[in-house]
Amino acid sequence: MSICSPSNCNGLKHHSSKSHSFKRLFTSHFISQVQVTTFPYAIPLPSVYLPKPSQFSGKRFNLVTASATPVLETPKISFRSKNPKDINVLVVGSTGYIGKFVVKELVKRGFNVTAIARERSGIRGKNSKEETLKLLSGANACFSDVTNLESLEKSIENLGISVDVVVSCLASRTGGVKDSWLIDYEATKNSLVASRKFGASHFVLLSAICVQKPLLEFQRAKLKFEADLLEEAKNDKGFTYSIVRPTAFFKSLAGQVELVKEGKPYVMFGDGKLCACKPISELDLASFISDCVSSEDMINKILPIGGPGDALTPLEQGEMLFRLVGKEPKFLKVPIQIMDFAIGVLDFLVKIFPSLEDAAEFGKIGRYYAAESMLVWDPETGEYDAEKTPSYGKDTLEEFFKRVLQEGMAGQELGEQMIF
Ligand SMILES: NC(=O)c1ccc[n+]([C@@H]2O[C@H](COP(=O)([O-])OP(=O)(O)OC[C@H]3O[C@@H](n4cnc5c(N)ncnc54)[C@H](OP(=O)(O)O)[C@@H]3O)[C@@H](O)[C@H]2O)c1
Repeated sequence: MSICSPSNCNGLKHHSSKSHSFKRLFTSHFISQVQVTTFPYAIPLPSVYLPKPSQFSGKRFNLVTASATPVLETPKISFRSKNPKDINVLVVGSTGYIGKFVVKELVKRGFNVTAIARERSGIRGKNSKEETLKLLSGANACFSDVTNLESLEKSIENLGISVDVVVSCLASRTGGVKDSWLIDYEATKNSLVASRKFGASHFVLLSAICVQKPLLEFQRAKLKFEADLLEEAKNDKGFTYSIVRPTAFFKSLAGQVELVKEGKPYVMFGDGKLCACKPISELDLASFISDCVSSEDMINKILPIGGPGDALTPLEQGEMLFRLVGKEPKFLKVPIQIMDFAIGVLDFLVKIFPSLEDAAEFGKIGRYYAAESMLVWDPETGEYDAEKTPSYGKDTLEEFFKRVLQEGMAGQELGEQMIF
């Protein structure tokens, strides 16, 4: 593994611990579902300034000098025709739940992978620099700050290579209002702007199916960046994107495994059928995202994606868990109105105490995932549609539950607010 020298790479940012006062109220114990979705809610495409990829520091670019005789312009050779080892892939958000599997998968497929990371990575910066390097083994690790465009550009420049493809698995670790805009929009945009300067012609974005019905700040931030990508591809025919919108991750559905094992009831909202999803494993999603790097079929597409099998409601997930632990099903049904009440109170308080902004947002996130399915939304029927939600991969939630029951939750921890 080669490492971008810290003296060449700029300022590292460490996690600032956010207030966790609200997380007990909306822990994964309550949030047994996380959803995602397509976009009936069209948002205007903002006009975006992006520098043309004129300045390459790439080793593989030849200088073109002025000639007296007119020459035919050589068509730009697509990176897709090259061997994977000659394709430079830059991964941002490389140390997250999905990002680290994406790095592994891309390395396995033989791409030349550069992973941008913070020296202290993971939830609340729990991984040391050495652990972060180990995590990114096989890739060129580059410590930089995605929230600072200038330093990110400098870091890429110091790598001395061009960029063909960017894969972004960046996400706010909290889902808080400001952090969502900082990471899901600004930092992701910085990755686009900086990498375009160094030749990137394809961008793979890990988004979320729930942006189809955007009611939360992180969804709005993601949608704004999706719109920027579409605009960029419209303005430059040589630029392409793949927007991946997955359904629920396994980690988001694992919050009650230990509790059920201990004999506690499975908590769900309403009758447990308010929402459904087709959960997808980290490995399967990483494989799907890696397919997007060079597959022609996935160019300029928004790709909703779920795991194998039928869609599952919280009730079905609970029944599955009780069957696996060999216990009689025991459910605690919580009226969804309880959440509406809590959100109403927080929305009122936030007007008096603006510092409660994030607490109110976490309440809304909890409410959203308790009631909205993570399936493709059909604007014609006005309903979520399991049949229209494509499946990929082979890992099932049942196998995952079995593994967690035997081996525990290591690697499946939720983020800083225990929601994502
Ligand atoms: N949970 C679900 O069920 C679900 C379903 C569908 C879609 N999604 C979407 O999937 C995406 C990725 O999720 P995930 O669980 O893999 O995310 P994650 O584990 O929280 O990882 C986030 C990544 O972004 C980086 N990051 C966050 N804040 C940063 C900052 N200030 N500076 C630099 N880097 C920063 C993290 O770096 P550090 O390691 O240094 O913190 C990490 O690499 C999200 O957009 C989410 O909305 C989630």
